[in-house]
Amino acid sequence: MCGIVGVIAKRPAAGLLLEGLRRLEYRGYDSAGLATLEGGKIARRRARGKIRALEDRLREEPLPGVTGIGHTRWATHGKPNEANAHPHATGQVAVVHNGIIENYKELRRELEQKGCVFQSETDTETVAHLLSVYLREGASPAEAAAKALPRLEGAFALAMIFAGHEGLVIGARRGSPLAVGHGEGEMYLGSDALALAPLTSRVTYLEEGDWAELTADGAVFHDAGNNIVSREAQQTALSGAMIGKAGYRHFMLKEIFEQPGVVGDTLASLIDPETGRVALPDLPFKWNAIQKISIVACGTAYYAAKTAKYWFEQVAGLPVEVDIASEYRYRSPPLHDKGALMVISQSGETADTLAALRFAGERGQKTLAVVNVPGSSIARAADGVLQTHAGPEIGVASTKAFTAQLAVLACLALDCARTRGAVDETRLDALTQALRAVPGHINAVLQKSASIREAAQILAEARDMLYLGRGLYYPIALEGALKLKEISYIHAEGYAAGELKHGPIALIDEDMPVVVVAPHDALFEKTASNIQEVMARGAKVLVVTDEKGASSLDPPPFWQLALPEIDPFAAPLVCVVPLQVLAYETALAKGTDVDQPRNLAKSVTVE
Ligand code: M6R
Repeated sequence: MCGIVGVIAKRPAAGLLLEGLRRLEYRGYDSAGLATLEGGKIARRRARGKIRALEDRLREEPLPGVTGIGHTRWATHGKPNEANAHPHATGQVAVVHNGIIENYKELRRELEQKGCVFQSETDTETVAHLLSVYLREGASPAEAAAKALPRLEGAFALAMIFAGHEGLVIGARRGSPLAVGHGEGEMYLGSDALALAPLTSRVTYLEEGDWAELTADGAVFHDAGNNIVSREAQQTALSGAMIGKAGYRHFMLKEIFEQPGVVGDTLASLIDPETGRVALPDLPFKWNAIQKISIVACGTAYYAAKTAKYWFEQVAGLPVEVDIASEYRYRSPPLHDKGALMVISQSGETADTLAALRFAGERGQKTLAVVNVPGSSIARAADGVLQTHAGPEIGVASTKAFTAQLAVLACLALDCARTRGAVDETRLDALTQALRAVPGHINAVLQKSASIREAAQILAEARDMLYLGRGLYYPIALEGALKLKEISYIHAEGYAAGELKHGPIALIDEDMPVVVVAPHDALFEKTASNIQEVMARGAKVLVVTDEKGASSLDPPPFWQLALPEIDPFAAPLVCVVPLQVLAYETALAKGTDVDQPRNLAKSVTVE
């Protein structure tokens, strides 16, 4: 959460910093701010709300200077107001911060006793005062950083500028990512390479515990023990063009409509066009050598993991444990000596997922990461990586990253099944073919958006909703409910349809719409009974099914959408799409902020 940028430029810094912040706004949008050096003194502009509020402020009061730092905030400590907006500054230093300083209360007490006067409720301001104390004692900026950083507990990325030190930015990382960008006589810092893409494609990622002194001539890297170390620069393939909406009203809608291409690209990267069979790069473990795989993730990626559990267990016969990263990392699970760990993450920066990966890796498990952002912290920490080819996902609600994750996981399950001899070649070929048909089926579903829009008008009036599914459609129901609550703020719960009678049915009345995901598979009749049970209790039922399912529901539900018929193995990738559109259209009907819903951020880099 929070995006940070820094520049040492030959031209005005404010415009460059703003450009970087716009590309980082997905990380948080509670407030934004810049600080530069103006005649050697620190000057700041900050504004509550999104970056456009800061732009308005800068139009009224421009900010000169060629050295500066910037921040877009997702509030952790302190309300999202201007006083708590970054940069936090004393006369000597200005600091921007992503992450949490866990021992800030002790530090604040100590600093107040030394006479420091705090202006905000944030943990970050302690860093600015701590640095100032060392500077006042005579330390140089680098010496102050070297003394202050070991005193900070928690996970953070920091960027700092110092009064009287034109052309110097210091950056530090522990737990949160930070990239150094190399320009022509200019240097940059950013939370990710995307922020730096308009400025340079040459970046160096700071390693865990590193800090770096940037001047116009280059960067000096230090490790956590303050030793000077060398860190390689690498070329990134990210485009400097601002990622646009391509004529769509929202990023989320654009990303929903990109799914046929994204799933197609991801499958193409894993299926040999000659043989039509899954052909993966070398994995860090052999399927035959493991007896169990643990899959760990958060949010939407966790629901992808839950879907994969069905695939691995049904098709490949491999036992799978699925866990939420924030639970896994702290429950100290006993690790199977013939086990492996897989993590799934769009951003590759989710703090809990990264910690889970490290937990298992440090205990000798081989680790595989399914990530969308190459070069991300998770990609770099794992023993092996499979990339989802979703491209940058900007909408906070994940859509195309999910279907791309499912595409990778389905291919992994098929690879596992073949290696373990769990399925014969004919069936494997049929399943691979079913996957290859998915982009066309998603396209067909997207043509039905108008009908989904009608259903959304019903949901927009609801306060609470249930989403039901069985088997492979249960995780899809969970994902549908998450999408709806994230962007429409309607309370929605996903349940395994068979659980209905064990409690949730008590909630059903005419004010509680129920969405059921039920293509005609082996469990269809059971779910059809659940549909009748909720209809009998007055609920408006909306069913996502296929032609066969639609013709067998009698009496028909309030609304139904018939998808093309597809092998149940591949159906989750298709069934989730109408739920995404339903959530989008409901949010639109309610007038909420679809791409940047309240309280959320795209990348959760704090616990
Ligand atoms: O970047 P990650 O895939 O690790 O993110 C995990 C979750 O934070 C993310 O999926 C979140 O739940 C989305 N807002 C869901 O739409």
